[in-house]
Amino acid sequence: MIRKARIEDIKAIQKLINYFAGLDQMLPRSLNELYENLRDFWVAEESGKITGCAALHISWEDLAEIKSVAVAKPRQRKGLGRALIRACLNEARLMGAKKAFVLTYKPEFFRKFGFKRIKHDDLPHKIWAECINCPKFPNCQEIALLRQL
Ligand SMILES: CC(C)(COP(=O)(O)OP(=O)(O)OC[C@H]1O[C@@H](n2cnc3c(N)ncnc32)[C@H](O)[C@@H]1OP(=O)(O)O)[C@@H](O)C(=O)NCCC(=O)NCCS
Repeated sequence: MIRKARIEDIKAIQKLINYFAGLDQMLPRSLNELYENLRDFWVAEESGKITGCAALHISWEDLAEIKSVAVAKPRQRKGLGRALIRACLNEARLMGAKKAFVLTYKPEFFRKFGFKRIKHDDLPHKIWAECINCPKFPNCQEIALLRQL
């Protein structure tokens, strides 16, 4: 089941994200950041367990960001990632966003959904202002991709 996240899901979401962050596949998230952005999150729930998550964050007047996409190792390659991305893209359209972007180490996964590579400079400055708080700053290897909605 793909559904919006609830407060009680946050610790499981953090565990999932920080497991892959430990493998350098995505950025870690603090509990504070997750609670504050709870309403951005979608989760995959199977037999009462959180097996996947993804977030949709509104960034700018016509722009949404997909963040923190993770599917538990044993549940990968079964369509959960796709279902989570679909939920985020549908929500972005409902919110009135015209474009969605992602910063990722897995560009090939996002190409499956029509995202195309862009230059970091093509994104609004506001997004780069947030980078200063990132543990990877200034050595960011993430690739920026964008799609129209
Ligand atoms: C990337 C990730 C979210 C994919 O989730 P998933 O549930 O395995 O993906 P799905 O099964 O829904 O796959 C959807 C499509 O993407 C493809 N795909 C899945 N993982 C892929 C990857 N790492 N690279 C390229 N394509 C990938 C699948 O083959 C499938 O394509 P198809 O429909 O043409 O067969 C998952 O591997 C993951 O959590 N990885 C670790 C964290 C991470 O890297 N997050 C993404 C960046 S923020």
